Amino acid sequence: MPSRSLNVEAPVLAPSMLKCDFADLAGEVRRLESAGAQVLHWDVMDANFVPNLSYGAMLIKSLRSRTELFFDAHLMIADPAKYLNDYVAAGCDAVTIHIEAVPAPGELLERIRKAGVKAGLALNPQTPVEQVAPHLGQCDLVLVMSVQPGFGGQAFIPDVLQKVQQLRSLVRPGTWISIDGGIGPDTIAEAATAGAQLFVAGSSIFDHNDYQAALRDMESRAAAAWRGAQGRDSAGEAG
Ligand code: DX5
Ligand code: ZN
Repeated sequence: MPSRSLNVEAPVLAPSMLKCDFADLAGEVRRLESAGAQVLHWDVMDANFVPNLSYGAMLIKSLRSRTELFFDAHLMIADPAKYLNDYVAAGCDAVTIHIEAVPAPGELLERIRKAGVKAGLALNPQTPVEQVAPHLGQCDLVLVMSVQPGFGGQAFIPDVLQKVQQLRSLVRPGTWISIDGGIGPDTIAEAATAGAQLFVAGSSIFDHNDYQAALRDMESRAAAAWRGAQGRDSAGEAG
């Protein structure tokens, strides 16, 4: 089944469902939908690849019947090859695996794509771009971690912005660049200027009492940063 589509020509916020109220998941999905969210980011943790346990394919599948929003699954698991089919069958529209878990991800990325799902590759803050570079042609999405994976609510690591810039110049047009961890009103603009398009945000949405206001505020900050970066690029070309 082909995946749902998503337009990232304008900055898109992806609420991280790790930070939502697990006791009221369906309610949270409804509230995010009416707040204008287009994507839900599902953080899957196995207490092995990362020191935390979250949820898996069964839970994601149960929410699939409640919404047509784009499902962006982030697999922080040690053995994605073993569980991949479950996430495809659960109705995920993008499935991202970690280069640190699968140093030779070519075959897995191909499997994801063949299933009609967007294939993503994530890299941790300390992992250099050179490690993912040989595989970029097989990626629809590259996810730059801006915190150590495992927990929400951590502080943004600004050093990763350089990697976002580097990736922007390496990926083929049409490959999405996503950033995940510590994204909020104070950090989204610099992430957008560096070239990110899909912004994963947990605390800065769920700790807010008005999801719509939080989403709109961050989207407009990212859009303004893009306009600023474009202005500088074209001034550079003209000069
Ligand atoms: C961390 C997860 C993130 C995280 C984001 O391992 O991948 O998606 O939950 O949460 P905040 O926005 O609070 O850093
Ligand atoms: Zn994530």
